[in-house]
Amino acid sequence: MNQTTEPRQLPADCADGADAGTFRLEEVPANAEGMPERPMLASPGQLDLRCMDCMDLMREFPDKHFDLAIVDPPYGRGEDGGTTQCHGVKQKNGKVLAVADGGYEKKEWDVLPPPEYFNELLRVSRDQIIWGVNYYAVNLPGGRIVWDKVNDGSDQSGAEIAYCSLNQRVDVVRYMWRGMMQGVSIERGMVQQGNKALNERRIHPTQKPVALYRWLLDNYAAPGQRILDTHLGSGSHAIACHYFGAHLTASEIDADYFAAAMARINAETAQTTFFN
Ligand SMILES: C[S@@+](CC[C@H](N)C(=O)[O-])C[C@H]1O[C@@H](n2cnc3c(N)ncnc32)[C@H](O)[C@@H]1O
Repeated sequence: MNQTTEPRQLPADCADGADAGTFRLEEVPANAEGMPERPMLASPGQLDLRCMDCMDLMREFPDKHFDLAIVDPPYGRGEDGGTTQCHGVKQKNGKVLAVADGGYEKKEWDVLPPPEYFNELLRVSRDQIIWGVNYYAVNLPGGRIVWDKVNDGSDQSGAEIAYCSLNQRVDVVRYMWRGMMQGVSIERGMVQQGNKALNERRIHPTQKPVALYRWLLDNYAAPGQRILDTHLGSGSHAIACHYFGAHLTASEIDADYFAAAMARINAETAQTTFFN
């Protein structure tokens, strides 16, 4: 029997347009006693996820509606699937380990966002964390976040850089992320996870780890806040928001990625049945 639990209300002025491309995490299956099958989080984050163009999404919201935007727009580097641009990563013993293609279908989305994107993003959000800031022709002085991917010896970027409006510092987080080489945890991000079965499954050519999004939320957000993600991709951010208790509104333009992300989010948030 499936039973809808007490409805989790979206903030009053959230857009309401539920359609085929909209996903809301609202239902928890009940067991025979009528109790939720998986333990409820104290206050799980609400997810309002849409398969649409982010410019159309942002147009729906008034000025400064979101407490924080955490976004990862295209960097314009041809990373939208097809043959990978990374061929190997050096191990501690000096050997170069070949990195296999992820097998992602070649798409055409990796085009730099237009200047209007940044104007609109700053209009609808009070604060922003914008990954890929080094690739954009926008003037965003202020803080920076550097994610060290601990992939020394790889022929890919060793780090990614975000603009952060919340302070003037450069903060650094270290978490290994290169193919099957992933960190144990955000606290032990320099140490490679030995048990590959515990690795995060990758479904998107530029997927960021859930652990990274959780670290961002822990350090720059508060539970209950309204968060915006204009480029959802694999859904890692949505999984992190669910467990952190932040309300995420997000868009993803590609229908295949959107469907895969929704399946992943459903599966990974349902895991509380087994592990909580
Ligand atoms: C850099 S990836 C984001 C990866 C994501 N951070 C993750 O962890 O999986 C950018 C994503 O934005 C999507 N995209 C590109 N243009 C878009 C647009 N105008 N509106 C919404 N999504 C868009 C692409 O399909 C792609 O999935």
